[in-house]
Amino acid sequence: MPAPLSVPSDQVRIALGDRSYDIRIGTGLLAAADTWQGLPAAASALIVTNTTVGPLYAARLRASLLPHYKAVFEVVLPDGEAHKDWPTLNLIFDALLRHGCDRKTVLFALGGGVVGDMTGFAAASYMRGVPFVQVPTTLLAQVDSSVGGKTAINHPLGKNMIGAFYQPERVVCDLDTLATLPARELSAGLAEVIKYGPIYDMDFLAWIEANIERLLRREPDALAHAVRRSCEIKAEVVGQDEREAGLRAILNFGHTFGHAIESGLGYGEWLHGEAVGCGMVMALQLSRRLRLVDAAFADRVTRLIERAGLPTVGPALGADRYLELMRVDKKAEGGQIRFIVIESPGQAGLRSAADDVVRGVLADCTR
Ligand code: NAD
Ligand code: GLY
Repeated sequence: MPAPLSVPSDQVRIALGDRSYDIRIGTGLLAAADTWQGLPAAASALIVTNTTVGPLYAARLRASLLPHYKAVFEVVLPDGEAHKDWPTLNLIFDALLRHGCDRKTVLFALGGGVVGDMTGFAAASYMRGVPFVQVPTTLLAQVDSSVGGKTAINHPLGKNMIGAFYQPERVVCDLDTLATLPARELSAGLAEVIKYGPIYDMDFLAWIEANIERLLRREPDALAHAVRRSCEIKAEVVGQDEREAGLRAILNFGHTFGHAIESGLGYGEWLHGEAVGCGMVMALQLSRRLRLVDAAFADRVTRLIERAGLPTVGPALGADRYLELMRVDKKAEGGQIRFIVIESPGQAGLRSAADDVVRGVLADCTR
């Protein structure tokens, strides 16, 4: 693994009126006390992390928070998508209450998307809302889940079904943390990076194609560009449609098929990013069958997903089971499944599709 090199710090603004905030991107951010300058004043902070990330990074974060708070508490959750549930969420509330945390206590989500989504939901509901900061430590969380204020836990019948829109005070992406990420997790994060190309920015797609090996080698300047451009695109989309009245749904490209894979196999079997990567292949094939894009475009993006180390063939759950699972998707209306499709390269939209068309896609894309 390459030694982490320093890259200049960068900042992306999420413009949401009085809920606006900055995403800070760079190296060495976690250990620097001035990273936390300007957050809402409070007597205490609670670091929420998990059994994998806590031993790696909690001491570093705690040391840089101590100049800002009288007390810095910590709660360590069990690791994994299978624990993105009520009993684990309750561990955060237990810690907040046990330590006498008040309405001003700031929560710091130190971890991947699972910790971030759960901490955000806890922050949205503890005493009807306390401030929180996202400190994402996976590529996936840095380019997607920590930004935009979607928070949730899973239900056995559906992914991310219980949650709230609740924006953080700040997002701090310390690229140094990506050095310890397992290779499979890095690939999972690349799925959400690749996503931004076909739905929004074909120049970015071409940049990823040209730099995928550098990203897989974790070259800091390549990672910094991927995180910054992804966050810029997410900021543009969320800034126009915070609560997913329309446009924001394009960020769910590949997710309808992907969520079916995740809940169909049992949470944690496939990584979220792996399911999204394969789900994008299915959504590309659906776009092709709807005659929106040609086979060459679908193949081009599929090839990139493959080069990122992601699966491009889905598990054989059976078409009936896929359809049943996809009807629980949040975009479904009146039992009608709606998919994000590529309308033309660089532009996505929401469409329904006849079951037999979807069955054709599943026949082509599962084994
Ligand atoms: P994750 O949080 O499970 O993290 C992946 C694994 O990497 C975990 O085992 C974690 O402990 C470990 N890890 C994290 N940082 C590490 C580091 N620096 N070094 C070593 N190991 C590290 O998974 P994820 O891919 O980060 O996030 C997936 C979750 O995010 C899913 O639950 C998904 O639904 C959610 N999500 C939410 C949004 C949103 O807008 N809120 C968007 C996309 C995904
Ligand atoms: N990851 C999808 C969204 O934030 O809307």
